[in-house]
Amino acid sequence: MNILLLGSGGREHALAWKISKSYHCSQLYIAPGNPGTAECGTNVSLALADFQSIEQFCVDNAIDIVVVGPEEPLVNGIYDYLMASTSIKAKKPFFFVVGPSKEAAQLEGSKAFSKKFMQRHTIPTAGYAEFTVDNFEEGKAYIAHHSLPIVLKADGLAAGKGVVISNTHAEALQVFEEMIINKQFGSASSKVVIEEFLSGIEVSVFVLTDGKDYQVIGHAKDYKRIGEGDTGLNTGGMGCVSPVPFMDDAFMQKVEETIIKPTVAGLTKENLVYNGFIFFGLMNVNGTPLVIEYNCRMGDPETEVVMPRLQTDLVGLFAAMDNGTLADANISYHDNYFATVMAVSGGYPGDYEKNKPIEVQAPLPKESLLFHAGTKMATDGTLLTNGGRVLTVTSPGNSITEAVLQSKAGLEQIHFEGMYFRKDIGYEFA
Ligand code: AMP
Ligand code: GLY
Repeated sequence: MNILLLGSGGREHALAWKISKSYHCSQLYIAPGNPGTAECGTNVSLALADFQSIEQFCVDNAIDIVVVGPEEPLVNGIYDYLMASTSIKAKKPFFFVVGPSKEAAQLEGSKAFSKKFMQRHTIPTAGYAEFTVDNFEEGKAYIAHHSLPIVLKADGLAAGKGVVISNTHAEALQVFEEMIINKQFGSASSKVVIEEFLSGIEVSVFVLTDGKDYQVIGHAKDYKRIGEGDTGLNTGGMGCVSPVPFMDDAFMQKVEETIIKPTVAGLTKENLVYNGFIFFGLMNVNGTPLVIEYNCRMGDPETEVVMPRLQTDLVGLFAAMDNGTLADANISYHDNYFATVMAVSGGYPGDYEKNKPIEVQAPLPKESLLFHAGTKMATDGTLLTNGGRVLTVTSPGNSITEAVLQSKAGLEQIHFEGMYFRKDIGYEFA
């Protein structure tokens, strides 16, 4: 099968690596990709917002499957656009897209939509209320009487910056006004969800679903803060481990029974067309899982541990989703633990400089994998930094400690000016 993967981060390098190993994969194209994905297939220069050019590329290259990495094209309706294309269908009658429809992608694209969905299907989540400019005064009173900390969320996509956890009512009121009245995130904050603070350990669970059946394909714990000991600003993710020791069969069974099954049943019942990944962002509150958020895509850097750990052929699973046999698929995992440790640019998640040469001084440990995130290749062939999160090293181990040690040993062989990575990924499992 000919596959087009959309995206350019570490998540897409890990997906490209996994897809390229598939028995079912003939040609793999990545748009726009990065220097890492170029080692797994052919990078093509297409803009993710340019659906028309993506459609034309599918026609010209007889693409069978489009896999969408990031959320933005999904929330903007790329699934519906490509699935409705008569020119693609004329060439490839069995063409399909891995992702949710525009309507179903609101599970990530609108916090209010996802909260209402969870309420309709009795899926455990934090209590909440939603406000707009029309009931702004009511919102202020709601905040003033709410317990602390209090969580405010811009309804729409806000590049990961739309959630504020406040420890005082005064700050919460200020944030609320900033979002709704001063339109801090434009239309994304014209509606604000206010919810209870959940205290626990955050974990990520990944599922593939065709909207009727599902398979769990992995889970991970992400380390979001920039500083060691989980301190400092939030980032896109500084490292991950998988499997997570406390996410044992009993915990995962609770996740499946109380969260995954009702979610997939809800999609079916409401005729929400979904043919892709669901990322369940969960809080483990004293052994009880609650949903913090749905994402309609894989996580980054979770994908960089979930894909290496997954033994099952990913493209085979995509095909099973399409032909209605997903429920019969066998999911198997490698026995090892996996850890990924992300190297970021100096200053990230604040301002940082790009275009720093990246030097790989010695080969990485044999079983480690280097996934590129924000890198680019200069015309003279020098690898340069091109983002906040630059690259990540994933390694297997007999324990989390061993896997993390090996990833850190890999990163010790890599150098760029200002390079920083957390040395304590997986610390609580040491
Ligand atoms: P989200 O954009 O929904 O992923 O929220 C960003 C981050 O804020 C999450 O990853 C959590 O760490 C935190 N967060 C969101 N909602 C809550 C909540 N109700 N209680 C505690 N932390 C939360
Ligand atoms: N690592 C969290 C995310 O991908 O949203």
